Amino acid sequence: MTMIQLKNVTKSFGTKIVIDDLNLEIPRNKVTVIMGGSGHGKSTIIKLILGFIKPDAGEIIIDGINPLTLSKKERRDMLKMIGMSFQYSALFDSMSVYENVAFALREHHKHLSETEISERVVNILNRLGLYDIEDKMPSELSGGMKKRVGVARAVMLNPKIMIFDEPESGLDPITTTAIGNLMIEMRDEFNMTCLSISHHIPNSNRIGDKLAMLYRGKIIAEGSPEELQKLPNPILQQFINGRVEGPF
Ligand SMILES: Nc1ncnc2c1ncn2[C@@H]1O[C@H](COP(=O)(O)OP(=O)(O)OP(=O)(O)O)[C@@H](O)[C@H]1O
Ligand SMILES: [Mg+2]
Repeated sequence: MTMIQLKNVTKSFGTKIVIDDLNLEIPRNKVTVIMGGSGHGKSTIIKLILGFIKPDAGEIIIDGINPLTLSKKERRDMLKMIGMSFQYSALFDSMSVYENVAFALREHHKHLSETEISERVVNILNRLGLYDIEDKMPSELSGGMKKRVGVARAVMLNPKIMIFDEPESGLDPITTTAIGNLMIEMRDEFNMTCLSISHHIPNSNRIGDKLAMLYRGKIIAEGSPEELQKLPNPILQQFINGRVEGPF
């Protein structure tokens, strides 16, 4: 069953049509990867799903509901089921790594003891290959470490849906693999639905149950990695063979 559905969604900024009558189904409990060159509208799709911006036309259904039909409070509650790893790390600079990751737990699970919070924080950081950095400040971390702390913070509340905007940008290959593995584990252990945005073809092929190619605001090809390999679409084949065209 579909977890997120975009139906005939259009979004322009000024005179530029960025998302153009786009249709896409994101299946439940799977890893879906949206691929596409710079400026083709990938981050805009995420902002539309999260309700940061509204479509000019069409609708977005999440778990059977169009959030725009809800009251503000209902919408806020609903969006708690989505965890987000941003393209650029969005940590609280004045808080330690520990406090950043513990933040959502403190907000939403007030009954937890400090020992329980600490166990969960350290556990998720270790799973992401981060050891003994709890007391550091974000400014003391490398870009890749910041990104992983952002992922740790986002998955703390076990969201039903996890969205990653270019998780591998700025990361080394080992960390990229670790974040991909985490998506697969979250899918299998917690029945999470993962949506990732990526330029990274080998990683997308490895982790994606479904891949969708975005080109100039439209999905021009979709299917399993094996299905996409066989599609005769020249733009798709250029992209998956590493000849990415310049920014749109
Ligand atoms: N708030 C905005 N106001 C005006 N233009 C915008 C806005 N947000 C995005 N755009 C434009 O929409 C287009 C798509 O942007 P978007 O951020 O979705 O691209 P992207 O596919 O995520 O690219 P990248 O891979 O570089 O992150 C770009 O031309 C961008 O300049
Ligand atoms: Mg982007």
